[in-house]
Amino acid sequence: MSKRSGPLAPGVAFITGGARGLGNAIAVSFAKEGARGVVLVDVQDEKTFKEGKQKVESYGTECLTIRADVTKEAEIEYAVQQAVQKFGRIDYAANFAGILGPSDPISETSLADWQKCQDVNSTGILLAVKHEMRQMIKQSSIDGIEDGRVGQQGSIVNCASVNSLLSLPGSVAYTASKHACHGITKAAALEGRAHNIRVNAVSPGFLLTKLVQPVVEGTFELEEGGDGKKNDAGKAMWAEFEARQGRSARFEEIGDVVVLMSLPRMSLVNGQNLFADGGFTINEGNN
Ligand SMILES: NC(=O)c1ccc[n+]([C@@H]2O[C@H](COP(=O)([O-])OP(=O)(O)OC[C@H]3O[C@@H](n4cnc5c(N)ncnc54)[C@H](O)[C@@H]3O)[C@@H](O)[C@H]2O)c1
Repeated sequence: MSKRSGPLAPGVAFITGGARGLGNAIAVSFAKEGARGVVLVDVQDEKTFKEGKQKVESYGTECLTIRADVTKEAEIEYAVQQAVQKFGRIDYAANFAGILGPSDPISETSLADWQKCQDVNSTGILLAVKHEMRQMIKQSSIDGIEDGRVGQQGSIVNCASVNSLLSLPGSVAYTASKHACHGITKAAALEGRAHNIRVNAVSPGFLLTKLVQPVVEGTFELEEGGDGKKNDAGKAMWAEFEARQGRSARFEEIGDVVVLMSLPRMSLVNGQNLFADGGFTINEGNN
């Protein structure tokens, strides 16, 4: 009997929101674990794409960048086609494109702000899952499955949030979109299993990415056209979140979780929502 050896994740990874932040950390984790190809799908500027690509390539991994908006079906369909044209298949998809919603109370929430958040965080997940699954249904299982174990035609990990379980006042659009993400994940998991495709969600805790920086630094309202006054409430809120999480977290801690969730070794794990939050969601207190 030989022990397990070789790269953990030798297949092709396709990551929306992959140019920066958690999506890029996932891309780097796949590169570290021996992925043959990594595809970064995003709407970022050239500089951010370049930096994200370089991080992947520094591990000797081939990296394709594609500008595509996950809210536009033709663009995400094109991104999948381009990835398959380049690498032949998609083994691991991670859908991490996301935005924050408005911070207004429900009584003041504009339909446009609500809709924008659902478009990216909910519809964007649906469209990505749709076209990733179409490809995965067509392809054969990845090689290297151990004798007697079920094959894996593909794995999809969607990005939820602690807001897929919990909520806060002033977070209705984001909370609803992340609940929807888990709902899409469950339905896709049950459809996918007939094709040996697993679909799960990962819910990150609190990571100081560029997405949340404006909230923490108190400039979020400024950006959203508020009264122009910077406030310190964001810093205090973040300190409380991190205390309840136990510590500050590193982006690669989410990257590695997504890689591990994507492995054929996780064959019976389907439709789950894994909270990678240091115990935030099971903590009754703030320490
Ligand atoms: N940072 C946290 O603490 C945290 C916690 C829980 C969940 N999340 C989720 O993690 C995911 C990644 O966020 P992040 O924190 O890394 O922030 P980020 O802003 O650094 O990354 C998000 C990426 O998604 C891209 N994106 C946004 N809209 C897009 C669209 N329409 N099409 C394609 N790409 C688009 C952005 O350009 C960006 O590169 C999001 O879904 C977010 O909701 C983050």
